[in-house]
Amino acid sequence: MEDLWKSVSYSQTTLTELMIPSYANFGGKIHGGILLSLMDKVAYACASKHAGNYCVTVSVDHVEFLQPVDVGEMVSMFASINYVGNTSLVVGIKVIAENFKIGSVKHTNTSYFTMVAKDENGQVTQVPGLILENREDARRFLEAIKRKELRNTYKKELDNAKTLLEVDSNKHIFLKERCKIEF
Ligand SMILES: CC(C)(COP(=O)(O)OP(=O)(O)OC[C@H]1O[C@@H](n2cnc3c(N)ncnc32)[C@H](O)[C@@H]1OP(=O)(O)O)[C@@H](O)C(=O)NCCC(=O)NCCS
Repeated sequence: MEDLWKSVSYSQTTLTELMIPSYANFGGKIHGGILLSLMDKVAYACASKHAGNYCVTVSVDHVEFLQPVDVGEMVSMFASINYVGNTSLVVGIKVIAENFKIGSVKHTNTSYFTMVAKDENGQVTQVPGLILENREDARRFLEAIKRKELRNTYKKELDNAKTLLEVDSNKHIFLKERCKIEF
C-alpha cells in the first residue's frame, strides 16, 4: 500500500434521496436519525472507495441540524475525503435539502465522519495517500488536522473537568439550573 495514492475526486460521492412520509415525525419533519443513517451510508461509500477495503465508522464530529427537513424535499449529501491518516480517513459530508415546488435550497448541516479501513481478517489496514488537486482540497486537509488537535484538547480538558465534578461542592451550580435535588 506504500506507493498507492488516490485523488480526492476519485472517491467523491453524492447520495440523493426523496424524503417520504415514513421518515417523518408527527410534525411532518424528518427524523434526525434518518439523516444520520443516510450520512453513514454515503460516508461508507466514499471511504471504502478510497480505501479499496471496507471501512467502519469510528466517530462523528459534530452533528447540528441547522434547519428542519420536510416531507417531499429532496436531500442530497456530498461526501469527499478531507483527510487520511495511516488507517483512518475523514469524510466531510455537506447536506442540502431542496424543495422543487418553491425552488428553495437549504444547507442543513456539514459533518465529519472518521472511518477506519479493515482488511478481510477484520484487522485495521493502511489506506492510500491522498492527492490534493486544488487549494480547497488542501484547505480541508488542514482544517481536518486542526479539528483533530482541538478534539484531543477538548477530550483532555473534559476528562480533567470530570475529576473535579463533585456534587456536594458544586451545589451552587444546581441552584442556577432548572432542576431540583431530591436526595
Ligand atoms: C476503530 C477501531 C478499529 C480502532 O481500534 P484501535 O485498536 O483503537 O486501533 P488503532 O489504535 O490502530 O487506531 C486505528 C485508527 O483509528 C483512529 N481512531 C481510533 N479511535 C478513534 C477515535 N475515537 N476517533 C478518531 N479516530 C480514532 C486512530 O487514530 C488510528 O488512525 P490512524 O491509523 O490513521 O493513525 C476499533 O475501535 C473498532 O473496531 N471500533 C468499532 C467500529 C465499528 O464497528 N463501527 C460501526 C458501528 S458499530
